[in-house]
Amino acid sequence: MANLEIGGIDCRRLAEVSGTPLLVYDEAKIEGQFAAATSNFKSEKFETEVVYAAKAFSCKAIFEKAKEAGAGLDVVSGGELYCAQQAGVDMKSVYFHGNNKSEEELRMALEAGCGTIVLDNRMESQRLVNLAAELKRPIDVLLRVNPGIEAHTHEYIRTSGSDSKFGISIKKAEEIAELIQPVLNSEYVTFKGFHSHIGSQITETEGFEKALEIMIDFIREMKEQYRITAGCLSIGGGFGIKYTAVDKPIPLGEMAEILARTCETLIAEKGVALKKLLIEPGRSIVGEAGYALYRVGFSKDTDSKHFLFVDGGMSDNIRPALYQAEYSCDIATRMGEPKDKTFCVAGKNCESGDILIKEAKLPSSVCEGDLLVIYAAGAYGYSMASNYNRAGRPEVVFVKDGKARRVLRRETYEDQLRLEADEQLTI
Ligand code: LLP
Repeated sequence: MANLEIGGIDCRRLAEVSGTPLLVYDEAKIEGQFAAATSNFKSEKFETEVVYAAKAFSCKAIFEKAKEAGAGLDVVSGGELYCAQQAGVDMKSVYFHGNNKSEEELRMALEAGCGTIVLDNRMESQRLVNLAAELKRPIDVLLRVNPGIEAHTHEYIRTSGSDSKFGISIKKAEEIAELIQPVLNSEYVTFKGFHSHIGSQITETEGFEKALEIMIDFIREMKEQYRITAGCLSIGGGFGIKYTAVDKPIPLGEMAEILARTCETLIAEKGVALKKLLIEPGRSIVGEAGYALYRVGFSKDTDSKHFLFVDGGMSDNIRPALYQAEYSCDIATRMGEPKDKTFCVAGKNCESGDILIKEAKLPSSVCEGDLLVIYAAGAYGYSMASNYNRAGRPEVVFVKDGKARRVLRRETYEDQLRLEADEQLTI
């Protein structure tokens, strides 16, 4: 009976030391993905930048890895920005996204010396121009536009259809030109270019190639019709990963290379002068590097199912319940044993939809005390984790070359009570 090893460490040992549920990241895999992106996303025709999308998984340790890899950082809230500051990230490499940034967040970004704000709408454009003048702080901006591409992915993670809440449709060129005007007149805010993001978990190149072409045509249109020069283009993230055998994603390095070459061809064909191209991978950097380890508890047979219960669930990974996302798993303490029985792997949260994997082939010998591993659990699991049922967020460890380090400690009962208050309000 063999145990799964992650980063050269027996996972039974990891669970003994850190407890379960436990999220384990193989650091070498994270480094490999950063390197694949940065080394293949290169061009002699324009500058390139890989920007890590913090929303996929954020903590100081991963921000430090992004920094080491020479990647920028995409943040979407004051919280992510604060964490980046605390991790010592160079604020110039930070891109602040979001469709409804608060005035407080915009002030925070300006005061922190954040490099770029990705503007979403007209109100925000005016607000930023005013705030930058008040604070006398310089900042660059990209404007998020919507190329109107329907990516083949779940409705909730599709972001670029014509009714998306993000950005402004490129069909509204005049409105976009008007919106940029106050920025062009601003002493402090500098217009750099456009941003688009078409969705997430996209495994083919087609949607990105189409988006690139539409965006480059749009850059030309803005120049010719409105004399607005956009030197930078970010085509967002969304590069898919392998969750189960049905997923056949193009490796990140190949995808990055294809995008750089496609962009070179398009700008030559269309006579567009581009200074810089950016991508913003999140999931593809951390997803497959993450292993969620759970302790197997009780099991139960119903009329048509064999339930196997684990000590986590939708509170640490809501993706199956929210998107019907599929994962693969193993009994980490019975590797190599025949997988001769189909189980429904369910969590311990108080909700019928708290199913992590509907049908998993596992060894019939599995019993209480075994460890179950869910693969490719590194993206949008921890970052979307909740305190539902006061379950407490899991511990997170990074492993490499037989060594393990705790990067986020387990949430305790005391942690959960730290927000409790009993204060009279003066109304
Ligand atoms: N850039 C922008 C502007 C984005 O909105 C996103 C993701 C990314 C980059 C990174 O996308 P990635 O490379 O990670 O696919 N919670 C969902 C995914 C939501 C993605 C939101 N935006 C999930 O669990 O599948």
